Amino acid sequence: MSKIVIVYHSGYGHTKKAAESVLAGALEAGADARLLPVGEIDDAAWAELAAADAIIFGAPTYMGGPSADFKKFADASSKPWLEQAWKDKIAAGFTNSATMNGDKFATIQYFVTLAMQHGMIWAGTGMMPSNTKAATRDDLNYVGGSTGLLTQSPADASPEEAPPAGDLETARMFGARVAAVTARWIAAAH
Ligand SMILES: Cc1cc2nc3c(=O)[nH]c(=O)nc-3n(C[C@H](O)[C@H](O)[C@H](O)COP(=O)(O)O)c2cc1C
Repeated sequence: MSKIVIVYHSGYGHTKKAAESVLAGALEAGADARLLPVGEIDDAAWAELAAADAIIFGAPTYMGGPSADFKKFADASSKPWLEQAWKDKIAAGFTNSATMNGDKFATIQYFVTLAMQHGMIWAGTGMMPSNTKAATRDDLNYVGGSTGLLTQSPADASPEEAPPAGDLETARMFGARVAAVTARWIAAAH
């Protein structure tokens, strides 16, 4: 069974909702997965990250990049980086923000760079966007992420209201996809 850790920050609970759906998808796909909020990282959590087969990064987009709390975790990962402890693990990422675009991709691009510094293998969403005239907001991948999962929560919506159902379902499928990619990667290595 593959071990997946979803390490994320959420200031107000919206990105947490997305993280929970990513977790549900990974569990449904048969992975041993768990959520790790960046505020709860201790020595045991660092050891767990080192033992994982895949790490999924998640953060809200704040001021055109990952939130400072996530960046603090990323900076602290310089210790495993020195030992290349995450080399050849599968990596993936997701972000949530208020504006439909809102510069979300800057956050995803940062996650890719972080993963590459660690020598990881990046997995995208593998999903087509919903972008036809007939498309509706609750379609799968309406926000249209390919490099990473993108979800959107209107600025005045509570975490009970947003991200909307289609984005959460997209998050679930993304979690399942990362679990499937990880399982194939592990099987190929043995
Ligand atoms: C400090 C700060 C900066 C933000 N910057 C952006 C931004 O650059 N783009 C955007 O679309 N939304 C931005 N937002 C809105 C948040 O991304 C949005 O409220 C999101 O749902 C928050 O997720 P969270 O509840 O997990 O913290 C910002 C919010 C805050 C508090």
